[in-house]
Amino acid sequence: MCGIVGYAGRRNALPILLDGLKRLEYRGYDSAGVAIVGSGLQVVKDKGFIANLEAQLPPLIGSTGFAHTRWATHGAPSKVNAHPHIDCTGKIALAHNGIIENYAALREKLESRGHKFVSQTDTESLVHLIESYYEGNLEEATRKALHDARGSYAILAIHADEPGKVVGARNESPLVVGVGPDENFLASDVPALLRYTDRVLYVMDREMVVITPNDVSIQDMEGKPIHRDPQRITWSLEDAEKGGFDHFMLKEIHEAPKAIHETLLGRLANLEVDGFLSQGVTSVKLVACGTSYHAALVGKYVFEEIARIPASAELASEYRYSQGPSERPLVILISQSGETADTLGAAREARRRGSKTLCISNVVGSSLTRETDKTIYTRAGIEIGVAATKTFIAQLVALYLIALKLGQDRGALGYDELDRLKDQLRSLPRAAQYVLDRADEIRNLAKKYGNARDVFYIGRHANYPVALEGALKLKEISYIHAEAYAAGELKHGPLALVTPATPVIAVAVQDPTYEKMRSNIGEVSARGSPVLAIGTEGDKELPKFVDDVFEVPNLPWVLSPVPVSVALQLFAYEVAKMHDCPIDKPRNLAKSVTVE
Ligand code: F6R
Repeated sequence: MCGIVGYAGRRNALPILLDGLKRLEYRGYDSAGVAIVGSGLQVVKDKGFIANLEAQLPPLIGSTGFAHTRWATHGAPSKVNAHPHIDCTGKIALAHNGIIENYAALREKLESRGHKFVSQTDTESLVHLIESYYEGNLEEATRKALHDARGSYAILAIHADEPGKVVGARNESPLVVGVGPDENFLASDVPALLRYTDRVLYVMDREMVVITPNDVSIQDMEGKPIHRDPQRITWSLEDAEKGGFDHFMLKEIHEAPKAIHETLLGRLANLEVDGFLSQGVTSVKLVACGTSYHAALVGKYVFEEIARIPASAELASEYRYSQGPSERPLVILISQSGETADTLGAAREARRRGSKTLCISNVVGSSLTRETDKTIYTRAGIEIGVAATKTFIAQLVALYLIALKLGQDRGALGYDELDRLKDQLRSLPRAAQYVLDRADEIRNLAKKYGNARDVFYIGRHANYPVALEGALKLKEISYIHAEAYAAGELKHGPLALVTPATPVIAVAVQDPTYEKMRSNIGEVSARGSPVLAIGTEGDKELPKFVDDVFEVPNLPWVLSPVPVSVALQLFAYEVAKMHDCPIDKPRNLAKSVTVE
């Protein structure tokens, strides 16, 4: 949550900070601010999008500074709670991503010593704490303050009397250094830096960093220097831009075929999945949040079908506080960002319980990859739209690969079956493209069904989680109330809500529950609900039972979640666009959720 970007160099900092900040807006967008050291400390901040801040900025001059875009945790979105926060002397400015857990105790102590607080944030306690330790050296004061603070943070601090220096520190919130000639950068994520440099250094937990125009120094919390060489980033700024699409989300939905292809690349022939070994695995637990949790739920069916292995899925936020049974499944943690606090907590808990852990992540070097025994990367490329799309598809593909490997090693799959499945997996990019090529059809369906106040999604079996994901996409970007049910559950309660005003989107592809699904569709259409079905290409019967059918290619049921999900993503997108919603930045949300 929150995006931060810092600069120390020879150029005027403001345009560089604003440009970087805009590339981080997906991380939070309820308020924004900037602090620059020139002739003294200059701070401007306000509630609202970065564009709102930009519109009122005076020409701040100075070549050291930072900027922040906020996703509120403590204190409502407002000008006073926006970052940067400043100390009582008006010389220190601080921006923070994370939560200072003992902020109330710190605040009480600092107030009793005469510090004046103006905001309701946890962050402000940290800037006053730094002030209380300041004796002419910002990194020393910051280090001492962080020894007193508990919680998660990526922080940036500057001092009016120390121009040319930005101090950063990280614990459980991402922070990356961009290394350039005669200038250095700090940011929450690489896209903020890409216009200026492709050489980056990742700051690790409980580390501090000081940048000046000519130097980057990383230290541990005791001040001991740490040597780390920069890495080269292989993706370009173009990858982080919209490339002619109206929204990142649409661009990313259209990148599904490429994401599938890249995720399969070089892994299928010998089933070599980043060195994953299946020995000793007798059961699997899949743990994740949000969309990644829906991938986990699909994974349960995939593992049971392909690998014939007991599998279960659990929300990371529940798993980490539950009492685990004594058996030790392989725990697979799924996270696009690899930074989700609940998933990180679950990974630690799984290891504490003695399980082997494997993570599926899209971000190389992310925190989760360091908290787990093994990592399998989805190679979907950077995802900027807040709603996960191509990365969900790539997660499904990674799960298929792991299941194939397990199935092969356990002898659950014969040679022919294995070869057939591999070929079918190779056809998945085409299946996704088949859906994308018919985006116009989906736009028309969105016009017909997208004006309802409530929409129900139903599915069964592996397509029940796909229905859950379809509903999540619709509600988060169009703000239409959407609920998904396992179709067999309708009669146990939800049917009471079904009326002619509530369209039902039914995933009714040819799978082991197809016949049952048709009966469930009958239950809703008998109550007058208009039904849009996602069905299998060539199914002549389905159109007789529903109002509209959108066809996806005929695939084995276990792979059908891929094209169906692409169709439901496009549907949600088109509905949200029709309602003129801020698709890439839905209200109250942020791309990576680094708080519990
Ligand atoms: C919804 C969405 C979120 C994320 C969730 C977990 O479109 O993107 O529900 O899936 O916050 O994020 P990751 O996968 O980064 O752990």
